[in-house]
Amino acid sequence: MTTSGELPFDVESVRRDFPILARRLSNGAPLAYLDTAASSQKPRVVIDKVVECYEQYNANVHRGFHEFTDRMTTELENARATVQRFIGAKEVDEIVFTSGTTMSLNTVAHGWARKFLKPGDEVLVNPMEHHANLVPWQLAAKATGAVLKYIPLTDDGRLDLSHLDQLLTARTKMVAVTAMSNVLGTINPISELAQRAHDVGALICVDGAQSVPHGSTNVRALNIDFLAFSGHKLYGPTGIGVLWARKELLESMDPLLTGGNMVNEVFEQTSTWKPAPAKFEAGTIPFVEAVALGTAIDYVGMLGVDRISAYEHELSAYAHKKIGEIPSVRVLGPKVEYKGAILSFVVDEINPDDVHSHDLSAFYERKGVAVRVGHHCTMPLHRLLGLTSSTRASLAFYNTKGEVDCLAEAIMDSKNVFGAEAKRRRSDARKARAGKTEQPDVAPPTRGTS
Ligand code: ALA
Repeated sequence: MTTSGELPFDVESVRRDFPILARRLSNGAPLAYLDTAASSQKPRVVIDKVVECYEQYNANVHRGFHEFTDRMTTELENARATVQRFIGAKEVDEIVFTSGTTMSLNTVAHGWARKFLKPGDEVLVNPMEHHANLVPWQLAAKATGAVLKYIPLTDDGRLDLSHLDQLLTARTKMVAVTAMSNVLGTINPISELAQRAHDVGALICVDGAQSVPHGSTNVRALNIDFLAFSGHKLYGPTGIGVLWARKELLESMDPLLTGGNMVNEVFEQTSTWKPAPAKFEAGTIPFVEAVALGTAIDYVGMLGVDRISAYEHELSAYAHKKIGEIPSVRVLGPKVEYKGAILSFVVDEINPDDVHSHDLSAFYERKGVAVRVGHHCTMPLHRLLGLTSSTRASLAFYNTKGEVDCLAEAIMDSKNVFGAEAKRRRSDARKARAGKTEQPDVAPPTRGTS
């Protein structure tokens, strides 16, 4: 395994830590995996940790008194402490394990918003949010009589803060914002937004699904109130995620899920809750996944978050130049210096109304490149951009310039195949229209005539 965080970043050595990256597709070709924003690949240490848990000490946590449950509980709580250190949380009890970002955000929108929002209160969102940081707020607003307000975007896909004073008022109770857009790649000024939110007495809830795996995050330095992120985008297992909130907020909130292990006392008509984090961890949580998330974070820490970030930024700059130079390719979002390592684009000569996104996605896959095509769970953003879909390449520290070159070639090929097809359809449509206007002006047949 790669061992040093001090040496220059050696991507080939890092790639050897990820067994799947050595695999070939069924046609024998290698796969350029440029879809980490959807889910990351897993290093051998994470896979081994899952196997170790199941083979050596599998037993439910915080229940019973025997050697295996003691060991698994210790592993779980060590993982919680690892998460705490990773995001700079003040207390380990502020780390709640959830099933992922979506559940974390729903927990806040349910447990905080439905309890504290009142009619006329405002939640400030923006059009670049993933549906997971939008729809739960819509439902909370509907349930409480609160209103969603939108921070507009600049033409280049950043938050337009020029009218923030008018948008952020005493009525604002929450700012829900992503730290990094999953489509535009835009990195938002979280620290500034936190300050502005607090100035009017509002809280800030940050979707860190895309940002946390790719750069250092310190919740206290950012001075935020809630942070949500997923394990599977952080080189860890699926089914595990984190909600962090300041302790007093967790104490004041209602749980989203109720049931076993989160209760203090249960009476016939009422129940009382354990303190956080147990209050928010009803039932059997995915404890093996949580333990292996701790291993993933240790692995990232061993590589060095800042080194990862620097390497990804360099690769992203290379990709933006290479892909951006292809004629008729339009890269979405701001300049690379305002972005994380996400590059979404449309090819103007391929009309999305003519080419189904699944066909385009399958075409890229046949060319040995895994990207995501569609609206990426951001319909309001795509509507704003006048698009029904886009293609997204998302990079990680295990990607190479060679893989970016493969994407560039696949795009050129897609232009030849789908562009020619779209051109032919446009020409046929033009001819059909011209043919119609050249028709002699005869009355249309009436129904029933033959
Ligand atoms: N939310 C993930 C994405 O953006 C799945 O692709």
